[in-house]
Amino acid sequence: MLSSLKPKITSILAEKEKSVENRLTEVCELLKDSIAYYNWVGFYFKNGDKDELKLGPYVGEPTDHTIIPFGKGICGQVAVSNENFVVPDVAAQDNYIACSITVKAEIVVPLFKNGKNIGQIDIDSNTPDPFTEEDERFLEFVNEKVAEIL
Ligand code: SME
Repeated sequence: MLSSLKPKITSILAEKEKSVENRLTEVCELLKDSIAYYNWVGFYFKNGDKDELKLGPYVGEPTDHTIIPFGKGICGQVAVSNENFVVPDVAAQDNYIACSITVKAEIVVPLFKNGKNIGQIDIDSNTPDPFTEEDERFLEFVNEKVAEIL
């Protein structure tokens, strides 16, 4: 059950002696290590006043896509739609930015601070069609908790 990870997420984010960056990296590690079908876990945030996303803390294979313009790829589309984007099969998406050939599916959930879409959590999976509404609700919880420390 994804819900069983919630107390751990809350306690990681409450570790005030650590930087926000370190706490977010620990959250990424927890998710990747605890959930078998989460193979790359990272945060993107709006890059200042530019209409683009910048890669923040993440775990998994390094990616070339450290800057993503609004509208481009799954991430860039979520930056403008303000809605969750679940991709069961990345090969069936035309506006998709491939990071690794092993990735089969992706979920991106926007992160709101004071009602503004300021970033997102992005999960890549090497398993086809693994994400359910439980993932969406769980990642919304993660983002709400993260927003509290930003
Ligand atoms: N696949 C994403 C790009 C980011 S990587 O998954 C880390 C997209 O289409 O926006």
